[in-house]
Amino acid sequence: MPVANCNVCRYHQVMLDIYTLGDDVLREECKDITEFGDAIRMLADAMIDTLDEADGVGLAGPQVGVSQNIFVVHIRGEKPLVFINPVITETSIETGVYEEGCLSIPGVYHDVTRPMAVTIQAQDVNGKHFTIKADGLLARVIQHENDHLHGKLYIDHLDERERDKVLRSYEKKNKARRRQKARV
Ligand code: NI
Repeated sequence: MPVANCNVCRYHQVMLDIYTLGDDVLREECKDITEFGDAIRMLADAMIDTLDEADGVGLAGPQVGVSQNIFVVHIRGEKPLVFINPVITETSIETGVYEEGCLSIPGVYHDVTRPMAVTIQAQDVNGKHFTIKADGLLARVIQHENDHLHGKLYIDHLDERERDKVLRSYEKKNKARRRQKARV
């Protein structure tokens, strides 16, 4: 587990590295968290700080190299949420389309069809069990992040043609970024 906060002051934020497409950790099945305490609290805090810094709405363990069942959600204007060992227990029959992106596939977006509402059971940083019934953006983010814990990315929901399009545009943007870096 990465050291999340500064060893000296404990409050100084340390941003975690975000792993991107091609990193094996994004394709692994995560393990349940069995010990609750300072380490998991610090990891959750660091994940929320990293998520806020990256201006995202959700971040899952594998995206910061941690192959464990944890993700965080922070919808602007609302309290950040931490989901540990989550299980989606119900999904609505009704589906909807929403444009998704992913901090692990930066710079590209695509419409994804998913159930509109979900019920999720999880534990908080203290190990306390809770259940949330979510719809709207929260339901969307929960499903996207929960997928990460099973090695699944939003592009896996697309058909081959759509996925190729997203991947080509991602490659192009990445090449441009690498060129820019090389010039510095
Ligand atoms: Ni993602």
